[in-house]
Amino acid sequence: MLPSLLPILLLALILPSRVSSDSNPAASTLYLSETGTTFSLNIPNNSSDVYIYFSSPAYSWFAVGAGDKMAGSLMLIMYPSANNKNVTVSPRIATGNSEPTFAPEIQISVLPGTTIFNDSFVLNAICHNCRSWNGGSLDLTAVSQPWMYAFGPAIDLYSDSPEAPLRRHREYGYFTMDMNQATGLGGVPIPSTSMNGARLVGDVVMDGDKASVTHGILIVFAVLILYPLNVILVGFFKSMKFHVVFSIIIMCFILAGFGVGIYVSGEYNRSKHFTSAHQIFGFIIVAIFIALAALGGLVSRQRRVQPTPASDAPRKASTLELAHTWTGRGVWVLAIINGGTGLKFSSSPMHTQIIYALVTIAIALPLVIVYSIMWRRRRVKKEEEEEDRDVVLQAYYATQPKQEVYPAQGYPPQGYPPQQQQRW
Ligand SMILES: *[C@@H]1O[C@H](CO)[C@@H](O)[C@H](O)[C@H]1NC(C)=O
Ligand SMILES: *[C@@H]1O[C@H](CO)[C@@H](O)[C@H](O)[C@H]1NC(C)=O
Ligand SMILES: *[C@@H]1O[C@H](CO)[C@@H](O)[C@H](O)[C@H]1NC(C)=O
Ligand SMILES: *[C@@H]1O[C@H](CO)[C@@H](O)[C@H](O)[C@H]1NC(C)=O
Repeated sequence: MLPSLLPILLLALILPSRVSSDSNPAASTLYLSETGTTFSLNIPNNSSDVYIYFSSPAYSWFAVGAGDKMAGSLMLIMYPSANNKNVTVSPRIATGNSEPTFAPEIQISVLPGTTIFNDSFVLNAICHNCRSWNGGSLDLTAVSQPWMYAFGPAIDLYSDSPEAPLRRHREYGYFTMDMNQATGLGGVPIPSTSMNGARLVGDVVMDGDKASVTHGILIVFAVLILYPLNVILVGFFKSMKFHVVFSIIIMCFILAGFGVGIYVSGEYNRSKHFTSAHQIFGFIIVAIFIALAALGGLVSRQRRVQPTPASDAPRKASTLELAHTWTGRGVWVLAIINGGTGLKFSSSPMHTQIIYALVTIAIALPLVIVYSIMWRRRRVKKEEEEEDRDVVLQAYYATQPKQEVYPAQGYPPQGYPPQQQQRW
């Protein structure tokens, strides 16, 4: 009897300490020391729920996803609420390496204690059906269930909507979690700042939305820098060869930027269907640029066929030339406006939008001023030339016999030789 009681007695001796730790919900915890980010998971043994505790400095968004690749992964995306006082949790499922899409069938309840305090997220939540989803499931017996995490970029994102448009992660990484350790007494895991039942896999990967930035830089460089240079240089040097070469370079930048833009569109929910104003106007503007190039080609052909007469008289612009010039000016303004809508569309930071507006004004205003001065000068010159012509004409008339100027006295005027004697 006694020998069989001994283990029970021994157990009773160590039990009090076990009980105190057992009064806390079971949990596995990922702790990222660099950012002070905690993500803890609890798998209650008396229900099919999943409890979540999460805390982190309030970046634009933070995400954890089950699995080791985005496609088919259930992701929980956390970002500040519209009033920046609470945490919005958005369950999403990705179809590939692109923005995941809101999965309304996943039911997550945000629990009391959730807040944004001192610029930090604190989230207590319960998910009622996170153990399996359309496309995957958690392996609750796994000692190393694969997971991913990601941080959003430094942009303003405040939304109560679970479908808020995101911007591609600034960095991401992989980890595994011991799901056995997470399973037991149910409840929101207590806050912790140490790795427990989780392990990082590999190093953090620095990322960022390079394609969007490339798209913007290529087109802005072409439209805001090269394009005005082209117009100014052609205005001063009047070299058509130079203008053609420069225009081809600009066209290459625009088409490359356009191609990158189409590629980026596939990464985001808001752009993958090509229905936004920025994209539709983008297509129209590129079509106008191509038409502009075609008009330019027609103008240069027209000039070759009808060479300008070698005279000092100001050449009158043809209808084609006027169309080329005004299409060029119009499409430039449209492209600049579409640049602004693009910055808004891609949720670029406010300071980027302000810088864009200021740079645009700084470039456009002097151009408009230079142009209106040139236009005024040309008008004045034209008037002067007309005046000069009048003066020359009057001088000419003055040298002629009065009769010719005032032929009303009868025809042929007196003093004129008889017509038949005229020799031409
Ligand atoms: C955040 O929302 C949750 C759920 O509605 C609520 O329990 C909590 O008190 C809210 N926190 C703040 C700071 O308003
Ligand atoms: C707020 O956060 C900062 C930096 O994380 C920390 O030093 C400070 O103690 C916090 N303040 C409060 C009131 O928690
Ligand atoms: C759940 O786990 C806790 C802690 O291990 C235990 O005390 C409890 O009896 C378990 N409940 C069920 C329903 O298995
Ligand atoms: C499961 O256990 C937890 C912790 O004891 C308790 O708070 C919760 O109400 C239980 N849930 C169900 C469905 O029994």
